[in-house]
Amino acid sequence: MTVTTWRKKSHSVKSDLMPKLIPPILFLLLAILLVNLVLYQYLSNVSVSYGKTDMGLGVCPYGYFQLGTLKNCSPWLSCGIIGGEVRKLKRVGEGAVKRVFLSEWKENKVALSQLTMLELQEDFLHGLQMLKSLQGKYVVKLVGFCAEDFLILTEYHPFGSLKNLNQVLNLPKYKVFNTWHRRFMLAIDYVSIIHYLHNSPLGTFVMCDSSDLDKVLSQYLLTSDFHIVVNDLDALPLVNRSAGELVRCGHQELQGEFVAPEQLWPYGPEVPFEDSLMPPYDEMTDVWKIPDVTNFLLGEVEGSDLVRFHLFDIHVACKKSPAERPSAEKVLDSYRRVLTSLVRGTVMPGTRDML
Ligand SMILES: Nc1ncnc2c1ncn2[C@@H]1O[C@H](COP(=O)(O)OP(=O)(O)OP(=O)(O)O)[C@@H](O)[C@H]1O
Ligand SMILES: *[C@@H]1O[C@H](CO)[C@@H](O)[C@H](O)[C@H]1NC(C)=O
Repeated sequence: MTVTTWRKKSHSVKSDLMPKLIPPILFLLLAILLVNLVLYQYLSNVSVSYGKTDMGLGVCPYGYFQLGTLKNCSPWLSCGIIGGEVRKLKRVGEGAVKRVFLSEWKENKVALSQLTMLELQEDFLHGLQMLKSLQGKYVVKLVGFCAEDFLILTEYHPFGSLKNLNQVLNLPKYKVFNTWHRRFMLAIDYVSIIHYLHNSPLGTFVMCDSSDLDKVLSQYLLTSDFHIVVNDLDALPLVNRSAGELVRCGHQELQGEFVAPEQLWPYGPEVPFEDSLMPPYDEMTDVWKIPDVTNFLLGEVEGSDLVRFHLFDIHVACKKSPAERPSAEKVLDSYRRVLTSLVRGTVMPGTRDML
């Protein structure tokens, strides 16, 4: 934008000047051109590195959080404070394990999750444990918890889960964000989260709450600055390569096109499903699902098909047999490379038309 104004300026200057002033003007034009080039380079680097990092600053030490109006890190709220200072406002979501309420604590909006039924307390507590251990820019911020009463307090995200993405981006207010670029950045966020879960400090986790697209989307939240954080960590079994330990997602038979083929019952309809006979698998089931999630995130806007075209090869690879699939890291590298080349393409008009 700055670049265009400068060009306009240099035109009007040029037409008003005497011929004897031409050499200095030429020099000036050359200088402007150089500045433009540097700026182009800088801008494309900025937008690319934006995809890589900075999903929110405000890093607190383990056991502490920082929220909107509060400047400092406070320790996670405990049972007493949650019981006394947190006010429930309205229900905003419900899954199998948790009932979620928009709530208020010291003028901050927070999400209060309550266990739905005691039978599921193990999942609830596992989710809480994971939330505590995996805090960071990819995970919803923990504000407090009360394990005895099965309560978890997290940062509230008004856009809700990723399922709402299209409705949010279609609101007149947010239409300016409904671009291939922003949507591709969300896909990069998503794959970054999968990569993080596969390479966490605690080991390799598989995102098991993912038997269909809606299920996957409901595990993630859309932040108000249009990034993604993972919210529901209840169903995250650990793959231990060195110990040869693989996983199974749940005890029920999985069906459908969305899950990876190795998650399907392999012995045909004649043999009744039996959990203990089901062969276990690894984190490559998450990679199988990446193209479908990305496809949703890219949506139907100008340019999203061009992105799809560039992701074609890596997405084909994601659908190969588990051992042949690329790691989430490889997918991420490939996405970033495509983003870089597309950003360069938009900056230099013409290159996009060549396709
Ligand atoms: N921090 C939050 N801010 C805004 N909305 C939230 C927040 N946490 C949860 N929600 C909403 O509540 C829904 C249910 O939350 P969550 O996925 O934690 O419940 P669950 O019972 O574990 O779900 P599942 O049945 O997938 O296990 C989410 O999909 C989302 O729409
Ligand atoms: C994997 O298994 C080995 C051997 O049983 C064990 O020592 C190690 O701690 C396990 N790693 C994780 C991440 O659980």
